[in-house]
Amino acid sequence: MFDYGYFRFASKADVLDTAVEYWNPGKTKFWSDAGIDLVIDRRDGYFIYDMSGRRLIDLHLNGGTFNFGHRNAELVATLKSALDYFDMGNHWFPSLARSAFAEKLVKTAPHMKYAIFGTSGAEAVEIALKTARYATKRRKIVSIIKGYHGHSGLSVATGDDRFSKIFLADRPEEFHQVPFNDLDALERALRQRDVAAFIIETIPATYGFPMPNEGYLQACQDLCRRYGTLYIADEVQTGLMRTGVMWGWQGYGLQPDMFVTGKGLGGGIYPISACVVTERCGGWLHEDGAAHISTAGGSELGCVVAHQVIDILQRPEVVSNVHYVSDYFQRALAEVMAANSDIFVGVRQRGVVIGLEFDHPEGAVAVSRALYEHGVWAIFSSLDKRVLQFKPGVLLDPDTCQEIIDRLQAAMPRARALLRSSRRAV
Ligand SMILES: Cc1ncc(COP(=O)(O)O)c(C=O)c1O
Repeated sequence: MFDYGYFRFASKADVLDTAVEYWNPGKTKFWSDAGIDLVIDRRDGYFIYDMSGRRLIDLHLNGGTFNFGHRNAELVATLKSALDYFDMGNHWFPSLARSAFAEKLVKTAPHMKYAIFGTSGAEAVEIALKTARYATKRRKIVSIIKGYHGHSGLSVATGDDRFSKIFLADRPEEFHQVPFNDLDALERALRQRDVAAFIIETIPATYGFPMPNEGYLQACQDLCRRYGTLYIADEVQTGLMRTGVMWGWQGYGLQPDMFVTGKGLGGGIYPISACVVTERCGGWLHEDGAAHISTAGGSELGCVVAHQVIDILQRPEVVSNVHYVSDYFQRALAEVMAANSDIFVGVRQRGVVIGLEFDHPEGAVAVSRALYEHGVWAIFSSLDKRVLQFKPGVLLDPDTCQEIIDRLQAAMPRARALLRSSRRAV
């Protein structure tokens, strides 16, 4: 019997059956069929524990949500103490926590003016796209083929057909997509001067972290300026020091008109997201400040936690740890790749944003499973299954870095065997 006080289950199978019956049959079965029978129970730092008690190192971090690990002690203490005073707050009124956090966030990007809060990455993207339409009085939006910006109405229309068409939420007349790293295609899309915004992840995560070509992002921003289109940087996965600087766009010398952040902003314990905008983009906040309303967006508890998240990320020892972890994996992954070059063919890396490329269309699915069997949880890229998302946390210690590499090395023969059997099946 698994008795949690609030609820109890007879076994792991009982949880899975309940999930199939009342929660999400498709998702639950997808993982069972993939040989990943994970039900996350206890969680602590960069470790998660399956209900069976088996420990896994978390290299998925849910896209950086657990950038600081699970239940980070400092953030848990911050949230607990905030609960003695604050609650969600009332979005209608100016507030202590919201004002303080807005100032802190905007000051991380000196050319910006306002922070507009939401609860999820998708909501922050929604705010950015609406803001662009307000500021330009144009309707069209351009994004990248295989980009990913969330699943709400406007955000899902920027993404892959798989997620929009099922809900009849694709909008081909207003939303246009161009290939990543293709400047000519972007120019063709913008030159009618009728595009409100170009939105792009600084390094597209769900597409497997392909790296922007030298000068590509800067040239995109230049094209946007030339044709009166606003440049929106989606920093939901590349922000919060994961590329080695606070915001990924800073490392490329950009000055986006807006950027969006979420996931790890709430430290993995209280959901919050933000769209940060320039003075020009913030015009609607003067005309009608209630034009975007979100009851839980920028909740005061979230603001207190996120304020602390930014504070932690600004500490010199944290900044130097990100560089340590990034350099460590750069060296160690090159060695693992050299030893397994028959299947492991590339490393894409900027800071702790890392993708491992395998020489098979579903290579990362097999490696993800092999790693799972060897005590590491890392996920394949949904929109390019050759690439494993390898996402170390910014506070990882040297011993855990070494353990990850040892386990990766140990998992390679099993990955090779899985790939051979899937090649035979093809
Ligand atoms: C780059 C990017 N943008 C936006 C989102 C949407 O965030 P959320 O799931 O919080 O709505 C995600 C989520 O994975 C993401 O990876």
